[in-house]
Amino acid sequence: MSSSSVAARPAASSRAPGGGGGAPRWVVAVLAVNLVAQVLIVLTGGAVRLTGSGLGCPTWPACTAGSYTPVYSPELGIHDDIEFANRLLTFVVGLAALASLAAVSRLVVTGRRPSSLLLLGAAPLVGVVLQAVIGGITVLTRLHPATVATHFLVSSALVAASTALLLRVREDADAPPRPVVPQLVRRLAQAAGAVLGAVLVLGTIVTGAGPHSGDAEHPARLGFDTEVVSRVHADAVVLLLLVVVALAVLLRRTGAPRSARRRVDVLLAVLLAQGLVGWVQYATDLPELLVALHMLGAGLAVVATTALLMALRTRDPDAATTTTGPEHLSSSTGAAAS
Ligand code: HEM
Repeated sequence: MSSSSVAARPAASSRAPGGGGGAPRWVVAVLAVNLVAQVLIVLTGGAVRLTGSGLGCPTWPACTAGSYTPVYSPELGIHDDIEFANRLLTFVVGLAALASLAAVSRLVVTGRRPSSLLLLGAAPLVGVVLQAVIGGITVLTRLHPATVATHFLVSSALVAASTALLLRVREDADAPPRPVVPQLVRRLAQAAGAVLGAVLVLGTIVTGAGPHSGDAEHPARLGFDTEVVSRVHADAVVLLLLVVVALAVLLRRTGAPRSARRRVDVLLAVLLAQGLVGWVQYATDLPELLVALHMLGAGLAVVATTALLMALRTRDPDAATTTTGPEHLSSSTGAAAS
C-alpha cells in the first residue's frame, strides 16, 4: 500500500534575499577552491608519507635547526623539499579557508544570509590552524601512526565541513531544515555516514600497521597483523556498500527528490571504484601510486556522503516535500540535521 504526504510549510518565508542559487558566483567559486584545496592537501600529505619524506624537515615549525627553509644536505636529498612543499601548501589551504570565511562574512554583513552561517564558514580556518598544530605534533612524535591517523581523520572532517559549507551557501533559502524523505531513509543515510567514519578509522589503522606508516626506517609501528586489520577494513566496506545499496533502493521507492537519487548513485560509484582500488593495492603489495589514489578516493567518498546527507532535507519554505512510498516509511516532519 502506498501513500503520499506533503510536509507542512513554515509560516514565515525565509528565502535568501540573494535569490537564484543563494550566493553570488564569486562566493561559490571561493568555497569550491577551498574544498578542492582541502581534498588536495590530503594527497600531498600522502605524497610526503609515500616518498618517505616525513622527517625531511626534522623539526617544527622550523624545517631544520636554525632554518625555516630546507638547507641542502646529501642524506636528505629531495625529502626536505617535499616535506617543505607540503608545509607551504598549508598556507595556500589557510588562505583559501580565510577567503571562505571572509566571503561568508560579507554575505552575513550585507544581510543576505543569517549570522548562523558564520559558524560553518569559520570551520575550515579553525581546522587548518588545528591541523598545523597536529602536523607539528606528528613531526615531534617522529611520525607516530596515531598522530598521522589523527592528521588524516581531521582532514576528512574538514573535507566534510567544506562540502557542507559550499552546498549550504548554494541553497537559496534559510528556513529551518525540513526532511524530504521518510525518517527510516534519513536514519539509514546517517548510518552510512557512521559506517564510512568507521571505514576511514580502520583504513588508518591498516596504514599504521603497514609499510607506509610514515617512517620508512621503522614501518609497522602499530603492531597489528596487517592481514587481519585489512580484512576488518574490507568487511566494514562491504557493510557500507550494503547500506548504500539499500539507500539507493529506498530513495527510489519513496519518490525522493532527483538530487538525492543522483547523489546516492554518485556515492555508490565512488565507493565501488574505491573498493576496487583497495583490493588491487592489497593484492599488489601496496604500490605508492595506488595508495595515493586510495587516499583521494577516501576524500571523494567523504564529499559524496556529505552531499547525499545534504540532499535529504530542504530549507526552501516553498518546496513541496512530497514523500511518496509505503505507509510505514512515511515522512516525519521533525527538523532534519542542518
Ligand atoms: C569505501 C571503500 C574504502 C574506503 C573509503 C577506504 C579508506 C581507506 C583509508 C582512509 C585508508 C587510510 C589512508 C591513510 O591513512 O593514508 C585506507 C587504507 C587502506 N585500505 Fe582502504 N578503503 C576502502 C576500501 C578498501 C578495500 C575494499 C580494501 C581491500 C582490502 C582496502 C585496503 C586498504 C589497505 C591495504 C590500506 C593501507 C594502505 C597503506 O598501507 O597505506 N580498502 N583505506
